[in-house]
Amino acid sequence: MKRVWILVTIFALVASFTVMAAKFSIYDWWTAGGEKQAITAEINYFHQLYPNIEIAQNPVAGGAGANMHAVIKSLIFAGLPPTTFQVHAGWEMYEYTKAKLLDPITDLWQSEGWTKVFPKEIEELCSYDGKFYAVPMDVHRANMLWYNISIFKKLGLKVPKTFEGLISVMKKIKAAGYIPLAVGDRYQWPAAMVFEEGLLAIAGPKTYDEFFEGKVNYSNPSVKKALEDFRDIMENYVNENHASLTWDQACGLVANGKAAMTIMGDWANGYFMGLGLKANVDYGAVAVPGSQGVYNLVIDAFPVPKGLSKIEKEYAYDWLKTIASVKGQAIFNQIKGSIPARIDVPTTGFNTVQVNNMKELKTDILVSSAVHGSEAPAPFVTAWENALTVVQYHPSMSLEQAVNYLNAVNAQYLTPQNLSH
Ligand code: GAL
Repeated sequence: MKRVWILVTIFALVASFTVMAAKFSIYDWWTAGGEKQAITAEINYFHQLYPNIEIAQNPVAGGAGANMHAVIKSLIFAGLPPTTFQVHAGWEMYEYTKAKLLDPITDLWQSEGWTKVFPKEIEELCSYDGKFYAVPMDVHRANMLWYNISIFKKLGLKVPKTFEGLISVMKKIKAAGYIPLAVGDRYQWPAAMVFEEGLLAIAGPKTYDEFFEGKVNYSNPSVKKALEDFRDIMENYVNENHASLTWDQACGLVANGKAAMTIMGDWANGYFMGLGLKANVDYGAVAVPGSQGVYNLVIDAFPVPKGLSKIEKEYAYDWLKTIASVKGQAIFNQIKGSIPARIDVPTTGFNTVQVNNMKELKTDILVSSAVHGSEAPAPFVTAWENALTVVQYHPSMSLEQAVNYLNAVNAQYLTPQNLSH
């Protein structure tokens, strides 16, 4: 009998050691104002619900996952997967599923009834080969223009309705001595957003999708026009120090009245709120002129990597249940500037930009962002952003030369083989 008790005690000790040793280790790239507060609030809520789970949060600066994914892939290959990590639903997630680095979580989707509360399009972006692999934490909108209301009032400007109108407004703002469009492309992607959102506004959602499916290229007149406008904007209407600033520092120029506008996803809303600014009082927000009626989705999701221990997998499921709950989605998104991915979260506690986006998500045409990982494979996105940087910094390159060069990049990466998943 004594022996049995010794064995039971040893077993209990080993088990408790395993529990103690296991941590909930989470990776994200939310380090800027607004987004940092949002993830902190969610983690605090998770801690309230599961006080015994030890949490190790690992933020990797860079925005848009610029630096984080290299870290994650190395950890998984080294057999040290984090418990969960931030990933954009769609292609960015497919890179992991194609390489068999994630565990399917269809069981959880079914037991939690999530197919009833998340929109179909989002559900599709979180699944691969008929199985679910991630849970959406938010819905961001990429095609948004943010502007400083007092500069617009002072200069007697109206918010433009077309992309052409946007460029005319930029001319007036420049003449009045302000920076027309703040950009912070130290990590490249915010400049690529100027092209992506311009493309959507000028070419429309159908051509936008066809462009990333490799069906049309820069020789298409509206895509060519988007390229021409992109080069014009980057050369003539942005802050000179754009290449040394980050996205949030660019938003800071709008907040402090040095710049009149910026094109950025609605994490900018979280940034402005974090500064104590009020939507429709201090800053205005509209869909990028020309893209009204279209919602360019950016979806932050969390998966379960392969190779977790039983207890770690339990922690990962606890986290996924937390972020997918009505309360979890409200806590995070109210601060983040985005809207919940669930359709049944009440609008109370969200600001006017968010309430409007919640309404428009239901009626708009949905596309998804290439810059933010959903619309196109990652190797293409990297090559495309690099190529846009080249044409941006070489204004001496003629439009035809730029078109030919960029078409060659698209042809190399957007092949049927690379686009199959
Ligand atoms: C996006 C991400 C957003 C926001 C932004 C800037 O890719 O989806 O949640 O964090 O980067 O960091």
